[in-house]
Amino acid sequence: MNRTQLFTSADLTREEVDFLLEEAESLRGKNTEDLKGKVVATLFLEPSTRTRLSFETAAHRLGASVITIADPKTSSVSKGETLADTIRVVEKYADIIVMRHPTPGSAEEAVKYTKKPFLNAGDGPNQHPTQSLLDTYTIKREAGGIDGKTIAFVGDLKYGRTVHSLTYILCLYKPAKVIYISPPELKVPEKYTQMLKDKGIEFEETADLDSKMPEIDVLYMTRIQQERFESEAEYLKMKGSYVMTSATVKLGKKSLRILHPLPRVDEITPDVDDMEQSACFRQVENGVYMRMALLKNLSKAYYK
Ligand code: CP
Repeated sequence: MNRTQLFTSADLTREEVDFLLEEAESLRGKNTEDLKGKVVATLFLEPSTRTRLSFETAAHRLGASVITIADPKTSSVSKGETLADTIRVVEKYADIIVMRHPTPGSAEEAVKYTKKPFLNAGDGPNQHPTQSLLDTYTIKREAGGIDGKTIAFVGDLKYGRTVHSLTYILCLYKPAKVIYISPPELKVPEKYTQMLKDKGIEFEETADLDSKMPEIDVLYMTRIQQERFESEAEYLKMKGSYVMTSATVKLGKKSLRILHPLPRVDEITPDVDDMEQSACFRQVENGVYMRMALLKNLSKAYYK
């Protein structure tokens, strides 16, 4: 793989995704020295548990050291330092940069200021490409892959960046059908359904979850993204739009697999967690191996 930076899922190729799926599988459960002597900076200017900690775990498991900003309030961003200056500074310390930022497009902006390996760990409601790769890895392990499967997204499809990034990857494969299930106010942006249309992939948009359950192979549940709403009142109108309970799961196929990027609030009840259909916490573990694959190979392409 020749790639050194990843700021969107839009320019990933099928060959790259297939390669990364194989790499993640081969790194499963391993500790290596692929990044011995390298420093990984995790620059998180928006809250995170999984993405930051799984990147840091991945870096440690590859033998790298980690420096981090876990809270923008503790960095000079809070004094008004620009993104450009922040990146110019961090690249002087680190060999690889992982950044989460609240502003859509900030990752694409950041790579103007560094040629070093760079990974977008989420830019506002726009993209979360490493999440979409670990989701794809999970779909492969849990359901045998995307081809021929009916894949449904449920919840906040307007602000859910993981939905946007995963839709790009679905377009590299041949799903039987994609179903977007959301309240009308939180529909997936038209740009993504247009992409499916252009690729000749069948899709449907609906607000009705229960009637769709029997035809779904992979159901991707999402949280209503409270932090993206203009007001608390707007959020409260949407909160609780969909709640996946064990009774809902039983409306689906036995082979159904439920994914969620997490964190969840109230959209999957705890009684679902012990059902075979729930892959959410296996998905979390897969994130470490996919991020190991990304750190290793972006670094290898740059430092040759
Ligand atoms: N899935 C995900 O991005 O989780 P965090 O916000 O905790 O990193």
